[in-house]
Amino acid sequence: MHFDEEKIERLITISKQKPLLPEEFIPWELEPKEDEKFLSDCLVSLHGHPLFDTLSPDQKRELGRHEMVQSMYSYAWTEGLACLFFNKRLLTLTDNTSPEYRFLVRQLIEEFRHQDMFASAVKAIAGKAIIPNWIHVWLAKISIRYLPHDVMFMSVLAVEEVADVYGKIVRKDEEVYPVLRKVSELHHIEEGRHIFYTKMWLDKFTQKAGFIKRTIYSLIFLTNIVFLRSLYVRKEIFERIGVDDPEYYYQIARRHFKSKFAAECLQGAIEYVKDFRGFNALTRPLWRRILGVKLA
Ligand SMILES: [Fe+2]
Ligand SMILES: [Fe+2]
Repeated sequence: MHFDEEKIERLITISKQKPLLPEEFIPWELEPKEDEKFLSDCLVSLHGHPLFDTLSPDQKRELGRHEMVQSMYSYAWTEGLACLFFNKRLLTLTDNTSPEYRFLVRQLIEEFRHQDMFASAVKAIAGKAIIPNWIHVWLAKISIRYLPHDVMFMSVLAVEEVADVYGKIVRKDEEVYPVLRKVSELHHIEEGRHIFYTKMWLDKFTQKAGFIKRTIYSLIFLTNIVFLRSLYVRKEIFERIGVDDPEYYYQIARRHFKSKFAAECLQGAIEYVKDFRGFNALTRPLWRRILGVKLA
């Protein structure tokens, strides 16, 4: 795939002609019913582990609620960072009629709507996000300030790939509160376009990348996924749901989620890294160890 202006024009046209406005698309008036979940089981950190069954039905549901809040908050937060980067990128493009300029403006519009939508969704489920820690904030600041644009686009893509999987799973899950399903549907549709564009944009870099560059891209992808994963499962959540030993529950949940996350959420990411030949003797062991993925 190369940077094809006609394809970009098509993406811009869809974004303009079929805008998905959260105000209209999402049935905000619906309240969550008692039997509705806030997050699909396969994405709840502890689900599937024997320890999950030591929780009361209410604690199980609450765990899903807090973790859904974390995922939506994390997307909104990283989207805010991506917008900062897109604006920096726009300042380097002098021709505001070019496809790249106009697509980025459309993407900015959509990403701002997503941030607003996620904030409303967190409010709709009475959530209170646990904010990123100083390492997250420090890494974000350093990246925005110093990383070259190809590396930043690679980072944005890694986050979008994971966000997209969450969207795909939750939108189809009939047990989940409909507001969250529609939020996921909207996000899944629009992220599809962003992912398509970003891959196309990155092609000109990945295609001529040598061993070192491919290794760097692969590690950037990996780091961003770890970064995102570490925002989801937090010890404070187990304190909030009132288990006896939050630290113990947290440690088990973290480990259990690592393998679930690898199995459920990383297919797209792995395919992409494979496409640009980002798995090699240096990166493969790190992907296996840190993300727990099985690589051929
Ligand atoms: Fe988004
Ligand atoms: Fe996006």
